[in-house]
Amino acid sequence: MEDIRGRVTRDGIRIYDDADFAGMRAAGRVAAEILDMVGEFVVPGATTAAIDDFIREEIVRRGVVSATIGYKGYQHASCISVNHVVCHGIPGAKVLNNGDILNIDVTVIVDGWFGDTSRMYVAGTAPRKAERLIEVTHEALMRGIAAVKPGNTFGDIGFAIQSFVESNRMSVVRDFCGHGLGRVFHAPPNVLHYGRPGSAAVLEEGMFFTIEPMVNLGRPETKVLADDWTAVTRDKSLSAQYEHSIGVTATGCEIFTLSPAGKFFSSKG
Ligand code: MF3
Ligand code: CO
Ligand code: CO
Repeated sequence: MEDIRGRVTRDGIRIYDDADFAGMRAAGRVAAEILDMVGEFVVPGATTAAIDDFIREEIVRRGVVSATIGYKGYQHASCISVNHVVCHGIPGAKVLNNGDILNIDVTVIVDGWFGDTSRMYVAGTAPRKAERLIEVTHEALMRGIAAVKPGNTFGDIGFAIQSFVESNRMSVVRDFCGHGLGRVFHAPPNVLHYGRPGSAAVLEEGMFFTIEPMVNLGRPETKVLADDWTAVTRDKSLSAQYEHSIGVTATGCEIFTLSPAGKFFSSKG
């Protein structure tokens, strides 16, 4: 019974209906609520494994499912990417130090729908330049989201993000992108965080996808470590990321993963 109804565009992008929006709303809310809770565990001295344990237990407690445990062999309920780690950091024995900045990325499955979101956190107090990186990255995501409405293109989203980031003398990672999602984790299209106005597929009401820009203080190049997951900046500069799951509406978009508590940046809570 999966995905047999509805339409797929010529670009291979599925178009969802109102009942599907309700499914995504519920899934996105759970993911956002868990990110709201996790800030209090982000303190100097904590391990990233302890943060992931909390997330996994909270997912179980709520009777929902982790989308990442078992995904292509991944074994954790979150990705935790510290400092120069761009994305897909594996939770483990690493102990957080005062001033570390980290992205926590959680994806849950609720009644078959995927809610995928990430935010930045700080252990203790971060240097001013790290705070600026975090602020610019969040603003870049929100400017990308502001470009979402029927008739605009995916290139308009990428352009909004890239032009803002580069005007702040930071760089957009090219090696990872956002993605369609719904009753699957990763679907067409690839949502690039750079681009030219009017390029790529046209946005239509009923599309679901993530926008998840990664922004570096230095150069945009990345490499993946020998664990086959952890992506880092080649020049070891700091990297930040924010991610929302959204749906295109008649006039703009709905953000499924907005924080119910109004949080988006935490240095404690
Ligand atoms: N949540 C990530 C994304 O934004 C994907 C993580 S896959 C994992 O698409 F296996 F690394 F967890
Ligand atoms: Co994603
Ligand atoms: Co994610």
